[in-house]
Amino acid sequence: MSPAGALASIDALMAALAQEGYLAERRLATAVFLALRLERPLLLEGAPGVGKTELAKALARVMQRQMLRLQCYDGMEQREALYEWNHAAQLLHLRAIQSPDATSNLEQAVYQDRFLIRRPLLQALDMPAPGAVLLIDEVDRADEPFEAFLLEYLGEYQISIPELGTVKATVPPITILTSNRTRDLHDAVKRRCLFHWMDYPDQARELAIVRTQVPQATEALAAQVAAFVAKVRSAAFASNFERLPGIAESVEWARALVMLQAQHLDAECVMDTAGVLFKQQDDVLNLQNSLDALLA
Ligand SMILES: Nc1ncnc2c1ncn2[C@@H]1O[C@H](COP(=O)(O)OP(=O)(O)OP(=O)(O)O)[C@@H](O)[C@H]1O
Ligand SMILES: [Mg+2]
Repeated sequence: MSPAGALASIDALMAALAQEGYLAERRLATAVFLALRLERPLLLEGAPGVGKTELAKALARVMQRQMLRLQCYDGMEQREALYEWNHAAQLLHLRAIQSPDATSNLEQAVYQDRFLIRRPLLQALDMPAPGAVLLIDEVDRADEPFEAFLLEYLGEYQISIPELGTVKATVPPITILTSNRTRDLHDAVKRRCLFHWMDYPDQARELAIVRTQVPQATEALAAQVAAFVAKVRSAAFASNFERLPGIAESVEWARALVMLQAQHLDAECVMDTAGVLFKQQDDVLNLQNSLDALLA
């Protein structure tokens, strides 16, 4: 499907994403559709492993755009997001042009485009048509000054660079921000974005995802995986665990079970593969304690 075809309706967008292996529920597809049509950034918040990052990747394929990714972390600096100068090349250049009677403007000589190292934000602004998809991943890990720095980009798709002036996007990049909500984002960031909370999928959608991602699994095994994980996350069991498995874990679990040639779930194969679903020893013990009820 062409990018324009994918944007014809919400159904068309869902179909285009599904063609790329991403099964979006309708509300998510609506949020994406609106973000694209209104040319606004989309902030996706949700538990780990529910498909936030994967959505940006699938969307880049649908829109036939290059995806640029900015992985945020505590202490990240602007130069890692936007640009920095290639100081070594600048110094070499200065040496080369230095002579006792040099009259050239040294500042002009070093702040040239060829000494500029573009980082994802600037690359996204500079990307020629059809433009880029910019994924600002796990923005909650960056610090508040970095959020403040993002405001101009998120609001106007432009950035002011002291030595170069204002750089404005030729084509607004499709911009996806993700957050695991380890802390609340600033209101000013949220106001510039459309927002969607990504929850765990219902059992039917999880089954469909497992089936598309792990086609080697039999329908019966995939159904048992989806049912088991749904039960783990249900009100009756969720509070027994510190961290619940996401879609990523369900998919990997199905893969692991196929590899071990398990035909159906039983106590032994669940415990043998517990480390795929749970990544904390306490939760593996909790699983052991709830196992009979979960398999009943
Ligand atoms: N809707 C979906 N359709 C198809 N596959 C999905 C979907 N959601 C999640 N997945 C699968 O789950 C995996 C993990 O998803 P992803 O890495 O996007 O999660 P995340 O929300 O970004 O997690 P984290 O917060 O840990 O970064 C993907 O690689 C993909 O296999
Ligand atoms: Mg992610």
